[in-house]
Amino acid sequence: MITKMRKTLNIGIALLALITMVSCQNDLDPNYQFMPNMYAPISYETYGEYNIDGFENGQEAKLPVAGTVPRGFQPFDYTNSPEDIDRAKSELKNPLEYTEDNLAAGAQLYNIYCAVCHGDKGDGQGILAKREKFLGIPSYAAAGRLITEGGVYHVQMYGLNTMGSYASQTNEEERWQITQHVMNLKATLEGRPIQEPKKVDDGDNPKMAVTSDANATPTELEEDNINIQ
Ligand code: HEC
Repeated sequence: MITKMRKTLNIGIALLALITMVSCQNDLDPNYQFMPNMYAPISYETYGEYNIDGFENGQEAKLPVAGTVPRGFQPFDYTNSPEDIDRAKSELKNPLEYTEDNLAAGAQLYNIYCAVCHGDKGDGQGILAKREKFLGIPSYAAAGRLITEGGVYHVQMYGLNTMGSYASQTNEEERWQITQHVMNLKATLEGRPIQEPKKVDDGDNPKMAVTSDANATPTELEEDNINIQ
């Protein structure tokens, strides 16, 4: 009887000791680390939390200097306000020439991103419109809707009501190529002549000088790297 009680008591003490030890464990400050160099970096971690003078936000990572532009990023001077939509519609112009390459790329991208809603003719009869998944998809020839190339570009940047933005799926050049196709669909719907592709001389590069790293060939990227060093 006595031995049984003592056994229970011993187990109880052992349990209590275990609980006390576990509850003293602080995850952020482990009291024993086996080979600590394996875990704790000597240098500051970019996004680590430090309480050091000169570390804005308590991080080593710095915010970009005001007014700087990341490599490959094209600033866009229009916000998503009604005034800027009107301003884009009236003054923003397509910098790309109508070439066979641009028109072909525009048609292809349009069919990927836009035709599901707007239809391959731009009449607002895409598959999602027919199945009534999205309502209020306009025809590009809709009366009372001002559709200009600047507006088509702006709507791709920010979207409009139920239409989302396409700024992350496409780059600047691609958005202008899509815009060319949309303007030609609109002309066809309204019975006006479309913009025919301009003949390009051999060796002439119809592409726009968009400095996006995504567009750069590996050799261009290598050259860039050499310049930096
Ligand atoms: C999910 C369906 C959907 C997709 C995909 C879509 N749109 Fe739209 N789009 C809409 C709807 C809905 C409207 C009407 C928005 C409104 O006026 O409220 C619209 C409006 C527009 C307008 C008229 C804007 C204006 O100023 O009145 C243009 C131009 C346009 N879309 C172009 C595009 C292009 C280019 C793409 C592909 C990059 C695209 N849309 C993809 C649903 C879509």
